Amino acid sequence: MKGIVLAGGTGSRLFPLTKITNKHLLPIYDKPMIYYPIQTLVDAGVESIMVVTGGRNSGDFLRLLANGKNFGLKHIDYTYQEGEGGIADALALAEHFADGQKICVVLGDNIIEQSIRGAADAFRKQPKGARILLKEVTDAERFGVAELNGDRIAGIEEKPAHPKSNLAVTGIYMYDETVFDKVRTLVPSGRGELEITDVNNAYIREGSMTFSFLDGWWTDAGTFDSLLRAANLVAQTRRDRLE
Ligand code: DAU
Repeated sequence: MKGIVLAGGTGSRLFPLTKITNKHLLPIYDKPMIYYPIQTLVDAGVESIMVVTGGRNSGDFLRLLANGKNFGLKHIDYTYQEGEGGIADALALAEHFADGQKICVVLGDNIIEQSIRGAADAFRKQPKGARILLKEVTDAERFGVAELNGDRIAGIEEKPAHPKSNLAVTGIYMYDETVFDKVRTLVPSGRGELEITDVNNAYIREGSMTFSFLDGWWTDAGTFDSLLRAANLVAQTRRDRLE
């Protein structure tokens, strides 16, 4: 399985921190944000990764990550998203890299505590379809929210005003090779973006979406509050592991 980290977009919610650099290069405690999703993929047994960047500072990713050797990677690829057409628009740029293989996509601002190896191995054995990772949260209206029907997902709503559950869809997605055909059928949402939630709902409609619950804490880092929370969680976890 190949890995894709999506690190495009303008990070407008973090302005002026993102006025002169890319959001994913900002620090989370003692490392640049982009290190965490890359490590998530490495810990899941992924050896070949593409980073999708954008904006005016894309060259800095190359200087920071170089050839991926420091992460033990066999290979790291880069591509560039023009504009910020949404998460699914950024993903579309990775079709050539994926080359018909299964992929694990991680949003560049998603930070987790524990390994997703178990879910990744389950998806490696899954004959087709997709797998998402769910997490119970207290502020579901900020995220894609999954509604369960028994052991299946009935549907996902993107940032609903009145969430039907407290299960957020985290920014870790595993897809088979049909994902790029599904992206091609999308139309921009109300916020003018190609939504990853629409991709996931396409898999749900065809009955091939599975899910796992994410162990440990999870946070995004795209707002001032979540950026601070991410740093505090990483620092606390580091201290706990030293004790
Ligand atoms: O964090 C999980 C949530 O991420 C999910 O629960 C939502 O369903 C999903 O839509 C997404 O929500 P956000 O609105 O918080 O995503 P955001 O626009 O902050 O983008 C998250 C990352 O995706 C960002 O750090 C980089 C990447 N991205 C985003 C956009 C809009 C791109 O690479 N290109 C883009 O055009």
